[in-house]
Amino acid sequence: MRHLTVCLMLAGAAFAQPPGTNYDESKVPGYTLPELLKLNSGEAVKDAKTWREKRRPEVFSLLEGQMFGKAPGRHERMTFELTSLEPNALGGKAVRKEIAITTAGKTMSLLLYLPKDAKGPAPVFLGLNFQGNHAVTKEAGVKLAMTWPRTAKEAEAGAKQALETSRGAAASRWPVELILSKGYGLATIYYCDIEPDFNGGMKHGVRPHYLRGKAEAPDDWAAIAAWAWGLSRAMDYLENDRAVDAKKVAVMGHSRLGKTSLWAGAADERFAIVISNNSGEGGAAISRRMFGENVKNLNTSFPHWFTGNYKQYNERVAEMGFDSHMLIGLIAPRPVYIASAEEDRWADPRGEFLGAAAASPVWRLYGKKGIETDKMPGLHEPVGDAVGYHIRAGKHDVTDYDWEQWIRFADRHFGRR
Ligand code: GCU
Repeated sequence: MRHLTVCLMLAGAAFAQPPGTNYDESKVPGYTLPELLKLNSGEAVKDAKTWREKRRPEVFSLLEGQMFGKAPGRHERMTFELTSLEPNALGGKAVRKEIAITTAGKTMSLLLYLPKDAKGPAPVFLGLNFQGNHAVTKEAGVKLAMTWPRTAKEAEAGAKQALETSRGAAASRWPVELILSKGYGLATIYYCDIEPDFNGGMKHGVRPHYLRGKAEAPDDWAAIAAWAWGLSRAMDYLENDRAVDAKKVAVMGHSRLGKTSLWAGAADERFAIVISNNSGEGGAAISRRMFGENVKNLNTSFPHWFTGNYKQYNERVAEMGFDSHMLIGLIAPRPVYIASAEEDRWADPRGEFLGAAAASPVWRLYGKKGIETDKMPGLHEPVGDAVGYHIRAGKHDVTDYDWEQWIRFADRHFGRR
């Protein structure tokens, strides 16, 4: 019963929205976004070289120091161990592998599906999952994860072996057969293998390995940066698998993991495409709009996600030297896709769109087109080129419609059609 409760919680928003939340567009304050294309010295950024060499490093260190925190790189000791191999998965359509990635005192289990009939190395979608690799698929051969609840109280007893009944519980968010049928592989890791997601979960994750007993600094990496670091370690593995085209890895994430995929793409340029779904506050949504969730809500409910420094903006959002357009802009010139859901007002769909639109001038420096309008498209009308965006009907979730757009986007940018 308890297990069922946890599953239901994970499937929903799992979080009460505070009274007084602004959902009224007419109450969005007037705001001016910090200038993306101006150096700290005040000089305008007019070409890709100046962006790349001067402005991008400024923007990156601002977001790193104030929001996500400084993460270490690859640890010198890392092992990859193939723990299972099924050459005839999904009725013979796929090769399925599980790989234990061990580094910095943690072992993360990567589940990898690759199309069986691939003519060469396959492009891959990589994303963290919320409920364990076994919840992504109903296939009985996938190891049941050791799962963590989301509160410190419930986590006192430590991680628990997931139950058989939770196999495939998140399968609707991971249409493996659709992905494979289009020639892509799918790679995923349970995010709590990197760090469990509750305030205090840090001590069970990768960060203490680097702290070595020292106190955390206000610009040290927080949980989102740790999960992004885990995605980079998955990439380290993918680069070593000859069945994978590591130059064509699209990193994808939903919600808090959509905030994570944006930071992963900003921090690690090996990700060729970045996809961020329903990422909201702290992700693609413009914080200054104060619509739906705001910085203070985020820092109050999830103090472990962002740095100590970020807390100083709880009441001073308008004073932040950055906003979501700068986070998204860091992905350029690589393609990025932002997706919203109509009923997901907590994540501020319009704010997500405006973040993507305001980031687009960076792509223009490279002669590419981003989102060339400030007018939000209607439902199911994907827009943009190197910066893609759609809003679909429905709630906070990942659906086949979303995946169909991302596959089309990846096909276009990977030159697959
Ligand atoms: C909460 C949180 C959001 C987050 C979401 C999720 O609703 O407030 O910021 O994106 O959980 O990850 O599901």
